[in-house]
Amino acid sequence: MHHSTVVVVGASSGMGLAAARRFWERGATVWMVARDPERLRDAAAGIGHERLQALSADVSGEEGRARILAAVDRLDHLVFTAADLVYKPSRDLDDAEVMRAVRSKVVGPYLLSGAIAGRMPAAGSITFVSGVAAERPSPGGSVTGMVNGAINAMVHGLALELAPIRVNAVSPGWVETPFWKRVASDERRESLFAAMREKIPARRIVTVEDVAQMIELAATNRGVSGTTLYVDGGQRLV
Ligand SMILES: NC(=O)c1ccc[n+]([C@@H]2O[C@H](COP(=O)([O-])OP(=O)(O)OC[C@H]3O[C@@H](n4cnc5c(N)ncnc54)[C@H](OP(=O)(O)O)[C@@H]3O)[C@@H](O)[C@H]2O)c1
Repeated sequence: MHHSTVVVVGASSGMGLAAARRFWERGATVWMVARDPERLRDAAAGIGHERLQALSADVSGEEGRARILAAVDRLDHLVFTAADLVYKPSRDLDDAEVMRAVRSKVVGPYLLSGAIAGRMPAAGSITFVSGVAAERPSPGGSVTGMVNGAINAMVHGLALELAPIRVNAVSPGWVETPFWKRVASDERRESLFAAMREKIPARRIVTVEDVAQMIELAATNRGVSGTTLYVDGGQRLV
């Protein structure tokens, strides 16, 4: 990782923050990308100073992607953990809400990947984080399942198209991140996670460090391309 440049889109929180920290600790120069500049600055300051760049951009839109393309002229690895999801039954959703999720997690990252892959060396990689909702959605989670399933399928075609750049998905089970604070009360979250811990084969909730380790593997193991790596404690089986 020394002398490598890694771009993490979604780096100010949760798994993206853990991945940014992990690559940075390995000696990489890390571009941390997310929308809210203040949260991004705080997240970067919590990691270190040198070899870190914070770039505020929305991957959903052309303008945000253009900012990333203007700032990063060379990179070795690209990681996407950004998502702006919605949890509601399909009958209560409108076009704009569904498309916000699709643009943030699928279309934006897809278009940025195509536009930036030419700036990577042959050993470069692109890693998308998908998730267990592709196989085991919660009620109200059909949009999340939709985008995660799209990612798991999309890496097949992209790996062929962007070769020799390797393109993969990392699919986590439930992980306690700030994301959950937005969708469930403390009490509800605790009971959901306690029940999940009992249920999943690994009998342990996946951590952001587990996910970051898998992202690093996808980025650095040159035998891995066009596949989904599951880091879900077996959650998709139960
Ligand atoms: N947590 C779980 O249980 C779980 C399980 C399976 C899969 N996943 C997936 O894993 C990924 C990471 O989840 P997490 O729990 O770590 O999320 P998180 O803590 O909410 O962090 C999401 C990060 O993405 C950034 N972001 C969101 N929309 C963006 C956009 N349009 N452009 C640029 N940056 C954007 C956020 O910052 P700003 O809001 O400031 O932009 C933040 O830095 C997501 O794709 C999620 O769906 C999560």
